[in-house]
Amino acid sequence: MHGKIMGTGRCVPDKVVDNDYLSTVMDTSDEWISSRTGIRERRIATTESTVTMAAGAAENALLSAGLGIRDVDMILVATASPDNFVPGTACEVQAILNKEAEEVKTDPENPSGTYEACHAVCMDINAACSGFIYALSVANAFIQCGQYRNILVIGVETLSKIVDWSDRSTCVLFGDGAGAVVIGASEDGIFRHLLHTDGSMGHVLSCHCRDNNNPVVRNEVQTGYVQMDGQEVFKFAVKRVPECISELLEQNHIEKKDINYYLLHQANVKIIKSVAKRLGEEMEKFPVNLDKYGNTSAASIPILLDECNRSGMFKKGDKLVLSGFGGGLTWGAVLLEW
Ligand code: ACO
Repeated sequence: MHGKIMGTGRCVPDKVVDNDYLSTVMDTSDEWISSRTGIRERRIATTESTVTMAAGAAENALLSAGLGIRDVDMILVATASPDNFVPGTACEVQAILNKEAEEVKTDPENPSGTYEACHAVCMDINAACSGFIYALSVANAFIQCGQYRNILVIGVETLSKIVDWSDRSTCVLFGDGAGAVVIGASEDGIFRHLLHTDGSMGHVLSCHCRDNNNPVVRNEVQTGYVQMDGQEVFKFAVKRVPECISELLEQNHIEKKDINYYLLHQANVKIIKSVAKRLGEEMEKFPVNLDKYGNTSAASIPILLDECNRSGMFKKGDKLVLSGFGGGLTWGAVLLEW
């Protein structure tokens, strides 16, 4: 047994903020942002939160899989921007899904509505922009060992609350949103993963904790915002991602010509073009939506996956490679059959 994607969903904020708007509130321009990154607009949470977007994406993924919350054995949430440290976002998603299901049962206009509680085991995973790939891999491992059958895997970020809006070199890059998949146990097809980490390079992309009011030990005041050495991140991504994808394909005796699509973390279109070139593959195999959403970190791959799925792009038997890279430093790839 191994994992298979049974359904996909997404939930993004209503508020669209384009580059021209940003140029009215800071010293930047559409030309600077779009020519260096490919980003034209992003969604910014106003009424939405990390938990409400995660739950919305989860509901859409369950609907697309034709499953109810009672069928879910585990909920994994990949995020670096939770609403709270405790409880974890996955636990809060379970609570929302159960509350909504209970409301259906007690709705006087729907007396036959049934309520079956979700008792899924819930946990969060923080591997920054690689978080969704890490969470998918954990889900696949639980399915392979036979412990769980259906796992909700959600990638969600509200990065707008942890970026420094006075730092134009980072804040223009990011956006908010959530994507989700249901992974079910299957004997058909393929599902393989490969993960890597280099903790010694953590400083090139970080978001430190804020100082607190501990009267015994006062730490140096830290910024509490995303900080990035953009050029180092660029060099890391364009080297490690193609290496990792090639390693995964070799391990599984699959040739690049057999891959239908590569869904990469949506950070920068130049990174995606460079990876395509280094793999010797055409850009047509690399769907891109970062022009509409910016970099949504752990949410970028599942949002893209859901858009591609709902557009009818994937056929049964297609082979996909998903690959994430980001803070940690972390990177990894998943090879799966649709
Ligand atoms: N608008 C206008 N000018 C700007 C802006 C802005 N938003 N931001 C920076 N500048 C200016 C700088 O001040 C600098 O000006 P100066 O030459 O007068 O000092 C100039 O533009 C060049 O700045 P650089 O930082 O050198 O710009 P660079 O060409 O490296 O592009 C970028 C920056 C787009 C971030 C690039 O390094 C990159 O794409 N790196 C990849 C990292 C990435 O995508 N990270 C996303 C998050 S990490 C992840 O998802 C894994």
